[in-house]
This record gives sequence, C-alpha cells and structure tokens, in this order.
Amino acid sequence: MRRGNLKAWTDNFFMGRLVYTIRPAAPGDLKAVYEIEQAGSRLWKPEQFTHELDIPFSLFIVAAHGISIIAFAVAWDVRDELQILNIGVLPEYRRMGIGVALLNDIITRADSAKKVYLELREKNDAANHFYNTCGFVQIGLRKNYYPDDNAILMEKVINH
Ligand SMILES: CC(C)(COP(=O)(O)OP(=O)(O)OC[C@H]1O[C@@H](n2cnc3c(N)ncnc32)[C@H](O)[C@@H]1OP(=O)(O)O)[C@@H](O)C(=O)NCCC(=O)NCCS
Repeated sequence: MRRGNLKAWTDNFFMGRLVYTIRPAAPGDLKAVYEIEQAGSRLWKPEQFTHELDIPFSLFIVAAHGISIIAFAVAWDVRDELQILNIGVLPEYRRMGIGVALLNDIITRADSAKKVYLELREKNDAANHFYNTCGFVQIGLRKNYYPDDNAILMEKVINH
C-alpha cells in the first residue's frame, strides 16, 4: 500500500466502553505521537516521525480516542517484507488490545508482504511477550545493537 491510499480509510473499534478509530497519521498527530514515544521506548526523535510521513513505502497509523491520539505504529512495506519499525500505546491505554489491533491493521494494509520482521530490545519484556502473543518468533540476536542492550530479531509469516 502506498501513502496516497492511506488517506482513504478509517477503521472503528469498540473495546468495552472504549471506542477508538485507527487511521493514517497526519502532521497534526505528530506532537501526540512523540509524547507516546517519550512515555514508552524513547528511541525516536521527533524528526524521525516527521520523515516517515514523506516516505512512500512507510505505513504510519494512529489510534484515536475522540480527539486524543492514544497509540501509533510505523512499518515499511517493501516488496514481500513488512518491517515493523515502532509501535507505542499510551500507558493508560495498554493491555486493552490496542497494540494487537494496530499490528493487525498495519499487516492487513501491507501490499504483498509474506513475512513481517522487527527488532526489539532484549530487555523489553513487555514487548517480547506482546510480539510472542502476536505470533512472532525469534530468528536472531544482534549483540550490543543498542548502546545498552542486545536486539532480538523476530519474524512472523503471514497468510493473505
Ligand atoms: C508493547 C506495547 C505496544 C503493547 O501494547 P498494548 O496495547 O498494551 O498490547 P495489547 O493490549 O494488545 O496486548 C496483547 C497481549 O500482549 C501481551 N502483553 C502486552 N503487554 C504486556 C506486558 N506488559 N506484559 C506481559 N504481556 C504483555 C499480553 O499477552 C496481552 O494480552 P492480555 O492483555 O490479554 O494478557 C505497549 O506495552 C507499549 O507501548 N510499550 C512501550 C513501547 C514499546 O516497547 N514498543 C515496542 C517496541 S517497538
């Protein structure tokens, strides 16, 4: 899927009494997205999020609860591979299934991906559990990939 197409859709979700939508990110969402990043991984600078809006093969989506942005996900859709680059949910909205919904949504919107890849900090237990729950398996380890941590490489095979 290319960015032009990303503008055309909005998905609605109902989790108990929480109603939220998943839609393509827009420039006006970036401040809130960066605040979510600061409350989570704290790996990306604001410019990286801004840049993703201009990359033709980048899928950048947000979850919105009313006017509030509560989560985001970024992935690169390149040929038959989807690379998950970043995902974050506001702390007060975690463990409600929003991360899974975002991941499923972004995978569904990939053009022709057969495999999904990602790397994450070995010490990030929550994300490790999360991705295992979502069907990812570890396929490698990059020692000292981060200044203070190793990176785990994970893969998920998808069936369209
Ligand atoms: C990882 C993250 C995106 C998960 O988002 P989320 O919306 O809370 O995830 P979900 O509610 O969809 O969780 C789905 C399942 O994943 C697992 N899971 C999620 N968070 C977990 C945690 N902290 N500990 C253990 N398992 C967890 C559980 O099995 C959960 O199902 P359950 O709640 O029914 O037990 C969120 O914790 C986050 O934003 N963390 C900070 C940023 C980050 O680390 N991003 C990943 C690296 S890029």
